[in-house]
Amino acid sequence: MKLVVFLVATILVASQCHGASFRSFPLRLPTGYGDGASYGDVRCASWRLAVEAKNIFGFETIPEQCVEATANYIEGGQYQSDSKTVNQQVFFFARDREIHENDVVLFNIDGTVLSNVPYYSQHGYGSEKFNSTRYDEEFVNKGNAPALPETLKNYNKLLDLGLKVIFLTGRRTDKKAVTEANLKKAGYHTWEKLILKDPSNNQNSVEYKSTERAKLVQQGYRIIANVGDQWSGLSGHNVGIRTFKLPNPMYYIE
Ligand SMILES: *[C@@H]1O[C@H](CO)[C@@H](O)[C@H](O)[C@H]1NC(C)=O
Repeated sequence: MKLVVFLVATILVASQCHGASFRSFPLRLPTGYGDGASYGDVRCASWRLAVEAKNIFGFETIPEQCVEATANYIEGGQYQSDSKTVNQQVFFFARDREIHENDVVLFNIDGTVLSNVPYYSQHGYGSEKFNSTRYDEEFVNKGNAPALPETLKNYNKLLDLGLKVIFLTGRRTDKKAVTEANLKKAGYHTWEKLILKDPSNNQNSVEYKSTERAKLVQQGYRIIANVGDQWSGLSGHNVGIRTFKLPNPMYYIE
């Protein structure tokens, strides 16, 4: 009985309320993320946005209560959609420019051109502390990483525009052969340069990548776009004409 009174009252109010749609008026949802979303999902989406915007940084592990939300984000399609959106912007930017002989697009590797989701899905989506020995053993050395599909599509389109591609990675030089083989296996069939880090180099990622980019500029390359999933690869000096941040809510590299 109460329900009937409520419904009638709701319909009356809604029908008198010009401009407010019946659908949105009585059914306003508290989360903004649809029926299934919990308060936790909403908080974790905020956390993820803050990470992408670099308002949250320097974390070693993701919040324990966001493991499931992160897994859903990565595996559920939103991650690929976000990746597609960024890659499309890279392409639009490059397409609208006049391309010169030494114009390059710079790509990071792990989390940018090769997916390390197969590893992170086995290690709590970033909730486990990073172990580089284990990462190399179980992931890098296997040489089996699949391409991130939206980046691979974009890579082929950029090559078609006449751009050169340079890979600049934090992987060490002893991983050169396995990295080359993995890139080819994943579909990245050509590149201008593959730059890996010397094991004796103690610079952090910002310093190391800035130094390598400065060398490229000195060699006469013009960095049109710099694409990476970590802010450290897009910061410092000689960052390129434009930087593009791919999504990665699972880890942060200084
Ligand atoms: C890191 O991984 C290696 C190889 O699996 C393991 O032997 C080592 O104990 C791990 N280190 C830590 C601190 O968990």
